[in-house]
Amino acid sequence: MKYKIALMKGDGIGPEQADATLIVLSKLKEVLGLDFELIDVEAGDECFKRRGKALPNDTIEVLKSSHTCLKGPVGETAAEVIVKLRQMFDLYANVRPAKSLPNVPALRPDVNLVIVRENTEGLYKGYEYEFDGAAVALRIITRRGCERIARYAFELARRRRRKVVAVHKANVMRLTCGLFAKTCRELSKNYPDISYSEMYVDAAAMNLIRKPQEFDVIVTTNMFGDILSDEAAQVVGGLGLAPAGNIGERFAIFEPVHGCAPDIAGKGIANPTSLILSAAMMFNWLGERYSDEKCLQASRMLEKAVEETLKEGKTLTPDLGGEASTMEFGRKVAEFLERFSESG
Ligand code: IPM
Ligand code: MN
Repeated sequence: MKYKIALMKGDGIGPEQADATLIVLSKLKEVLGLDFELIDVEAGDECFKRRGKALPNDTIEVLKSSHTCLKGPVGETAAEVIVKLRQMFDLYANVRPAKSLPNVPALRPDVNLVIVRENTEGLYKGYEYEFDGAAVALRIITRRGCERIARYAFELARRRRRKVVAVHKANVMRLTCGLFAKTCRELSKNYPDISYSEMYVDAAAMNLIRKPQEFDVIVTTNMFGDILSDEAAQVVGGLGLAPAGNIGERFAIFEPVHGCAPDIAGKGIANPTSLILSAAMMFNWLGERYSDEKCLQASRMLEKAVEETLKEGKTLTPDLGGEASTMEFGRKVAEFLERFSESG
């Protein structure tokens, strides 16, 4: 099968990360004979400056006719790009793994958790109003939204350590968080093989620092998931390493958790790992969706090549204490892919 993959390089460090990732992807194509075509699409601040639109129609059209999308970070216009796309394509699950990696300075060496963040409702609906010197935001929580994100989390936990923690603040937001908690609790009865518990979001923020190794799958609402996923990324070594998938029934967009880091953009020093690991998540999704063993293998190889690069520790970007450039890191990952294929 030939896959059509939209590539949105984004703003800031996005294009540099994408160029390093492209080296890796073309090596993957070569060693696995994986068949895919990358189609450049524009969106974000630069696109807005040039074309007056942060998310042009031609980009949306290409996405509609692609199997998936690999996306770099976007700057100030991010809400008009990724938040819109999540809603437009109903990408309801934002899946954000935080996993300890070799040689990466982190709080603990043995963390392996995933945050499953509801991605289409909550405070991100964008219903804000102003009147009489007050500003109001509506937090939309639906039973359907809670059900499908909870189901996603339980199904994911079945393929992991079988633990789900639902994170909320139902002691204060009795109706919205209340509905979320109640729905998760009800659904947990269909999963007797999964250990289920609940945690208030403030306690979860603390426990992510105190004992992050105890978490397996965290399921939560949109804004809480946004905040906790930055925290979890830092617990295992920083945002430069953190990938994410925005996943729906028919389409998915994979992107780093971080923003476009304008302070280091254009210097060639950004860590491309977050985007390379996002590509690994992408191939895993393609492999599962189209029952394609080759894609699943691509995903595993990408992850392993990143791990070996970090383990070797000679080609690290400055965020990890090294002096390598973004491109050098990418070339090193590609080199490991080559080595794996030679050793069969
Ligand atoms: C993220 C980002 C986005 C979000 C921003 C850029 C709109 O922080 O993907 O976590 O808040 O969801
Ligand atoms: Mn965020």
